[in-house]
Amino acid sequence: MTFTDDGYAAVDWVARYLDRVGGLPVLAQVAPGELSARLAESAPEQGEPFANVLRDLDELIVPALTNWQHPRFFAYFAVTASEPGILAELLAAAMNPVALHWRASPASTELELRTVDWVRRLLGLPDGWHGHIEDTASTSTLAALIVARHVTGRNVVVCSEHAHSSVEKAARMLDLELRKVEADGDQRMHGDVPLDDVAAVVATVGTTSFASVDPVRELADRTHAAGAWLHVDAAYAGSAWICEEERWSQDGVELADSLVVNPHKWLLVPADCSLLWTSRPDEFRQAFSLVPEYLRTPEDVYALSEYGPALGRRFRSLKLWAVLRCYGAEGLREIQREHMRLARLFAEWVDIDPDWELVVPPRFSLVVFRRNGSDEENERILERANRSGEIFLSHTKLNGRHVMRLAIGNAHTTEADVRRAWEVLNG
Ligand SMILES: Cc1ncc(COP(=O)(O)O)c(C=O)c1O
Repeated sequence: MTFTDDGYAAVDWVARYLDRVGGLPVLAQVAPGELSARLAESAPEQGEPFANVLRDLDELIVPALTNWQHPRFFAYFAVTASEPGILAELLAAAMNPVALHWRASPASTELELRTVDWVRRLLGLPDGWHGHIEDTASTSTLAALIVARHVTGRNVVVCSEHAHSSVEKAARMLDLELRKVEADGDQRMHGDVPLDDVAAVVATVGTTSFASVDPVRELADRTHAAGAWLHVDAAYAGSAWICEEERWSQDGVELADSLVVNPHKWLLVPADCSLLWTSRPDEFRQAFSLVPEYLRTPEDVYALSEYGPALGRRFRSLKLWAVLRCYGAEGLREIQREHMRLARLFAEWVDIDPDWELVVPPRFSLVVFRRNGSDEENERILERANRSGEIFLSHTKLNGRHVMRLAIGNAHTTEADVRRAWEVLNG
């Protein structure tokens, strides 16, 4: 077989997978260790044909997959690896540029700056902000907290009790003290916390559990008055700012020192692609720049590696560029608006059914709800529904009570899929 034959076979495999994924179980129907038991203990001594790898995808890997591309995947934050993004990943791997600095990959360095700036414009963020791509929001937030500590010389981070665990993890890795602030009845962080010794406040727009929106403007004023750094985590909901009607949730974000938004969550870009902007790029560069002799070049130009932890940076902008070009802003808005419509529709069904209750109002494309009854009953219903393979939802807790989350984020999810979820939960 030639590379071309294998390549066509791989693309055929992808096309078939995307076609049939809606008929596969959403949640993997395997027990822990089941795949490991079927995998060879060691790598082969002699090379095999690529066709063997494709065969084993079907026989070994797919049965052990939880299918994130399934239109009835409603857990965590549902995502989509869209077709242009998938193909761009293949192309990026073919060129495999490693952007240590501009000379090592002028194309990926400049495309990254431009595509991230395209997104900045689409989201309505301030002119002049500097943006680059990290792998995940966890890394973006870690980077922001590194800069905050560098700038302030302080060792305390403040966030809401509903902030994502990546904030706590970053604080732990950096040996920073974390102060979690109680949220109000709308799951928003209280603004009136003492901040005298604080390095950074992390405000969330679109919390993981409830998609609630912290009062960013109020927090920004208080944070800056205390000489601290404001990082905004809009990993999920920030993408919705492409829709004018969702910009209410951006209030105050223009005052942030740094901001993270993940196109791999709700802009149809395959994982991983996390955008990190800052209004204080010089301070980012001071915190991260370290250029050893072997990386010096004659050009005095850009090295995006001077704005974050990684040196070897892969060509992530290609998939972002491909998705933005092939869908266009209107195409992306249309999909997000449909997700939000479906979330509101599901919330209505919950709201009018006396056996169920909405736990918080639907926000963006997330519905949080529970069955009237005990926690155990709710856990049983969710586990039964997930085990069925027909739908996959996740849970969280509010005031100690078990609640279910239905998150819509797959480009192929239809009203029929959402209705099926409701039927399975009621089954
Ligand atoms: C609000 C929020 N921030 C951060 C993250 C972490 O994202 P990542 O997996 O890109 O590190 C998540 C994940 O769902 C999230 O919901």
